Amino acid sequence: MRTLIQGGTVVTASDTFVADILVDGGKIAALVATGPGTPHGMLVGNFDETIDARGHYVFPGGIDAHTHLDMPFGGTTSSDDFESGTIAAAYGGTTTIIDFAIQQKGGSMREALDTWHAKAEGKAATDYGFHMIATDVPPAVLTEMADIVREGVTSFKMFMAYPGVLMLDDQSIFRAMLRAGELDALICMHAEIGLPIDVLVERALAAGHTAPIYHALTRPEVAEATGTERAIALAEMAKVPVYIVHLSAQRALERVMEARDRNLPAYAETCPQYLFMSEDDLLGTPEDEFAGAKFVCTPPLRPKHHHDHLWRGLRNHDLSVVATDHCPFCMKDQKELGRGNFSKIPNGMPGVETRMYLMWEAVRQGKIGINRFVDITSTAPAKIFGMYPRKGTLAVGADADLVVWDPNKRHTISHRTLHSRVDYSPLEGREFIGAPTLVMQRGHTLVKAGEFLGKAGNGEFVRRATWSL
Ligand code: URP
Ligand code: ZN
Ligand code: ZN
Repeated sequence: MRTLIQGGTVVTASDTFVADILVDGGKIAALVATGPGTPHGMLVGNFDETIDARGHYVFPGGIDAHTHLDMPFGGTTSSDDFESGTIAAAYGGTTTIIDFAIQQKGGSMREALDTWHAKAEGKAATDYGFHMIATDVPPAVLTEMADIVREGVTSFKMFMAYPGVLMLDDQSIFRAMLRAGELDALICMHAEIGLPIDVLVERALAAGHTAPIYHALTRPEVAEATGTERAIALAEMAKVPVYIVHLSAQRALERVMEARDRNLPAYAETCPQYLFMSEDDLLGTPEDEFAGAKFVCTPPLRPKHHHDHLWRGLRNHDLSVVATDHCPFCMKDQKELGRGNFSKIPNGMPGVETRMYLMWEAVRQGKIGINRFVDITSTAPAKIFGMYPRKGTLAVGADADLVVWDPNKRHTISHRTLHSRVDYSPLEGREFIGAPTLVMQRGHTLVKAGEFLGKAGNGEFVRRATWSL
């Protein structure tokens, strides 16, 4: 199948130019600049399909490096499985996700990886990779980490938060870091210090504070800043690269900046919710304070003044990636578990479909440039997580994962028209300008003119390379 994408404005992390793209055999077979002043002509020949992309941008397919599909958590299971979650991703212009397999305490990573492969196979509509969440690292598990890396799962997430559930002590974290260093794997860290947070939660509940806003008030910024500093210190001692997931606040960012100024391989992602939403959302409405549960995620949404710091971090490359931490729970029967006790509200928000809309809004508002948009939504995660240049860019030989983007398309968000299996959207009623008209994965059309043309099960597992930045 030979497809010509004609006359679009191709955007990569470094360049913007008008070009024709030939897609053949699932790869980008040719990319020819056609704008004024270019010496080449347009691509000619026989094509099975020609797509007129004039007046539109062409981006590499989005890569969301942080999702939780079909994840048991908080007494329930995230409401998107690999089918609904990846279809939602595709609608929003994301063609690859990296989800988290979770090792059970006392269990093996092998079991965890098999379980997550079984969840994804036959269901995923986009390509996908896995990180491995380490919850227990006796010597046998440290040994099996080599097999996990060999199978293309080259990053390990650990938690300083959620005591008794996912949290690991510093000694275990350090042992796993040393082992990851030997294997050229990357450490991802949830960097909030969970033990003191749990004391604050206990005290708030004892004082009768049960509303969702107390989720934020019991997880202060300093708990994240200290966790971030400690994660970076442990990684420095272990001589291993570290990637702080879902960074939400100024002081945690400052810890990352200090590390990067010292040339440490320290990276961080933030998420759209920390850039566009705030602690105020956790207050709910005057009629219904529990509506704030829609916005309960961890780390919590922060006061608005953090936004400027995070935007500056993205512009200055102190923050490398915008991922979603997509972890949806319905209000009905799920978030409701925490009515009368904020600590029982399942932590997480939907976002995999709307990430590109929000980040495009940032381009429109002049907060980031268009090449940086491509970098933080696709190229940087591809590089950091061992998928570049197969994914994350538009270049000859790369997978034909791409998005034709109409910068003028107006649309209004409603959970009824989004594709995630969740009964609300944190962006309900918000209007956006800019959306995909075509989303392609390895040369196959996933979404065209608002219609899903892909197939559950066509998504392929991406074996990622080890650390090499
Ligand atoms: O609230 C969140 N972030 N839920 C998902 C689990 C995690 O910590 O990433
Ligand atoms: Zn986390
Ligand atoms: Zn997460």
